[in-house]
Amino acid sequence: MMKVTILGATGSIGLSTVDVMMRHPDRFSAYALVAHKNWQKMLELASQLQPEVIVMTDPEAAEALSRAITLPVRIESGMDAAIAVSEHPDVDMVMAAMVGSAGLPAALAAVRAGKRVGLANKECLVTAGRLFMQAAIDAGADVVPVDSEHAAVHQAMVGHDRDSVTRVILTASGGPFRDRDPSSLHDVTPEEAIAHPNWSMGAKISVDSATMLNKALELIEARWLFDMPAEKLSAIIHPQSIVHALVEYRDGSVLAQLAEPDMRSPIVYAMQAHQRLHSGIPWLDLAKVGTLEFRAVDELQFPAMRMVQDVMRGEDSLSIAMNAANEVANEAFRGRKIRFTRIVPVIEEVLSKVKNIPVDNLEMVWSLDHEARVLAQEVMHD
Ligand SMILES: NC(=O)c1ccc[n+]([C@@H]2O[C@H](COP(=O)([O-])OP(=O)(O)OC[C@H]3O[C@@H](n4cnc5c(N)ncnc54)[C@H](OP(=O)(O)O)[C@@H]3O)[C@@H](O)[C@H]2O)c1
Repeated sequence: MMKVTILGATGSIGLSTVDVMMRHPDRFSAYALVAHKNWQKMLELASQLQPEVIVMTDPEAAEALSRAITLPVRIESGMDAAIAVSEHPDVDMVMAAMVGSAGLPAALAAVRAGKRVGLANKECLVTAGRLFMQAAIDAGADVVPVDSEHAAVHQAMVGHDRDSVTRVILTASGGPFRDRDPSSLHDVTPEEAIAHPNWSMGAKISVDSATMLNKALELIEARWLFDMPAEKLSAIIHPQSIVHALVEYRDGSVLAQLAEPDMRSPIVYAMQAHQRLHSGIPWLDLAKVGTLEFRAVDELQFPAMRMVQDVMRGEDSLSIAMNAANEVANEAFRGRKIRFTRIVPVIEEVLSKVKNIPVDNLEMVWSLDHEARVLAQEVMHD
């Protein structure tokens, strides 16, 4: 029986993880469920999974849950408690699915404790990829991607010589605006940006898909996960979201992984050991899909993809700044404080103002992250 802690249990990835666990009660049990404020959803999850501990990082939410719950479960609050349930000796696997750079401390604690870590939180690698992967090597932790593209790359690389890889190509749906003229995007609303054509996801990542910042973050994630230089990494538009990534080898062979777009597929891949388990996703019927299309990414339409090339060629501080400025600009757009078309220019302006330096400790990560957030606020108010 694998004992699991879910960080971000009430979110989109968290709920899909619960779905997978409920399908295999003989294999998985919950040690701890962690979320921020949504204690009502947590109440439901607690009765489904009966965890030993629940952490609400928001103290008021922890109190409200304590008053409402009747199950014999320990309820704690704060990020230190989230860290404690990620490194606890009873835990075998941690699903790292909080959103944003808030997810880093607990995921890193799990890695340092040598756990198997299903990594959905891409911001961990974007902000601290070097430290995170080194900590995994030092502690012997298995970091398994919970992103459809990276799980696909992982599967296309297993059993193959990594030095023979010539290109790793991540597919991108292109989001809700892929066929729109860029000049028509000035007035789009958060609701339009969040309505993703193929995937059902949290609000922040859905907006990141519309700007293609999500793909930019994923390219940086791939660089650290697979120890690949930026020159070997690229993205291609694939509107059907059936092929999740392609790995090209020196002999010209290209291996791809295909599945219906459903996050339970990479989740089950990260959680299973040697045997494939049912995930609950629909079977892929290629005759029904009919056509699989691919086209080059237009950098005029998606300026984030041009920007990330410079970020990947620079030092670690640029990835931290890009991520932090994006979190601020993405949230401001969702709060109707800036236009959709301002998101990338705000990040570019922040990037033009920050230092281009290597980063080798967490204090630097937090200080550069903070600096970029302050700059992003200033740029937005100019
Ligand atoms: N959704 C996808 O299909 C998908 C695919 C690939 C990768 N990812 C990545 O997976 C991560 C989660 O995405 P999502 O779409 O599942 O997000 P989401 O639906 O917005 O859920 C976010 C989760 O994080 C929790 N959370 C937020 N801030 C927190 C804090 N300070 N302390 C503790 N918990 C906190 C939330 O708790 P409350 O509900 O209590 O606020 C919620 O459980 C992101 O990094 C995203 O990039 C997502």
